[in-house]
Amino acid sequence: MSYDFNEAKECLVNSYNFLEPVISYGNGVYLYDTNNNKYLDFTSGIGVNSLGYNHKTWIESTTNQMKTLQHSSNIFLNNTTVKLAKKLTKISEMSKVFLANSGAEANEGAIKLARKYSYDKYGKGRSTILSLVQSFHGRTITTLKATGQDKFHQYFFPFTEGFNYINANDLDDFKAKLTSDVCAIMLEAIQGEGGVLPLNKEFVQSLVEICNEKDILVIFDEVQCGIGRTGKMFGYNNFDINADIVTVAKGLGAGLPIGGVLCSKKVENVFNPGDHGSTFGGNPVACAGALVVLDTLCTEKSFDEISKKGAYVKDLLTKSNNHQILEVRGMGLMIGIKTKCSPSLVQKEALKNGLLVLTAGKDTVRLLPPLIISNDELKYGIDILLNVLNSINQ
Ligand SMILES: Cc1ncc(COP(=O)(O)O)c(C=O)c1O
Repeated sequence: MSYDFNEAKECLVNSYNFLEPVISYGNGVYLYDTNNNKYLDFTSGIGVNSLGYNHKTWIESTTNQMKTLQHSSNIFLNNTTVKLAKKLTKISEMSKVFLANSGAEANEGAIKLARKYSYDKYGKGRSTILSLVQSFHGRTITTLKATGQDKFHQYFFPFTEGFNYINANDLDDFKAKLTSDVCAIMLEAIQGEGGVLPLNKEFVQSLVEICNEKDILVIFDEVQCGIGRTGKMFGYNNFDINADIVTVAKGLGAGLPIGGVLCSKKVENVFNPGDHGSTFGGNPVACAGALVVLDTLCTEKSFDEISKKGAYVKDLLTKSNNHQILEVRGMGLMIGIKTKCSPSLVQKEALKNGLLVLTAGKDTVRLLPPLIISNDELKYGIDILLNVLNSINQ
């Protein structure tokens, strides 16, 4: 049974701008629609399918787990979840992890953790979280408020209190808003949804130094730019600093829902039984897949390859001197192309030509290809994109 586009939309809430093809299956770095049209995927399901589609080891690992233990609740421990927690904390150089199911859920956990840390140590009234203008942290009532974009602060009042926003890369703005009620700051090393906007290293280093002095917790939201995407384990590893709390999701799941709140030593014992929880969090099948992600993508060799592939794409784009390209930004395989023409138009035209890309912010085409993609596949996709850009008269 296969559905056409309009039929497919009928019983789904109208909360997404669905694109036309109904996807049928995926293989490698390609997706196929119900008419068997083939698309090179530069979206990875918005940063999720880091291993592409139908990855042999990932399928084996999740299938074996599926046949053994599908779920056991968090009242009991199970070997696979513990194995992931051990490996993830080791690679991340963090102390402990709380496992959840999504990016927003991970960020909710991080916010609760930061507020409880401050409450335990300083009492009431020190609970404000700073975040950055143009950030994106999720779709729950609290993570929407943590998101520094006014367009997300409509309709759903009242939002959670205790958030304030600073301009990215503006240390003076940070200092001005660092009032005595602040307990933490939440940042993306590269703002993804906001427009593929990387933070600058000096800003981050100075900010972290001040935070450490004042016992303000530094939370990095690595939901989109973490797990190897930028050519390092985490986007913030590009800045030579340490974080107190790190959130992960998307790419760790590679196709199954997972999220995590990684805790440094400082915050590892803040939660006590009953303070936080999640029925599905740390599901063993998702953890079995995540273990393959860590083994395959989170090694120095793989980070190096991802960095080189990213540099290759940037080189192809900048050397093309394409008249529609105003700027190429990003790190590793998280790349933003600021275009003269509308990024949504580029996305639609690319799709017609067998290439899937994302947009970000108002003026940016966003590329998040699977991290296992080859240089030939990258070249093939960039050629399509450049031809599409050339064909647009805007
Ligand atoms: C940086 C960042 N944080 C949080 C989220 C929310 O993640 P999820 O959709 O899994 O809740 C996203 C999703 O795009 C994201 O990019």
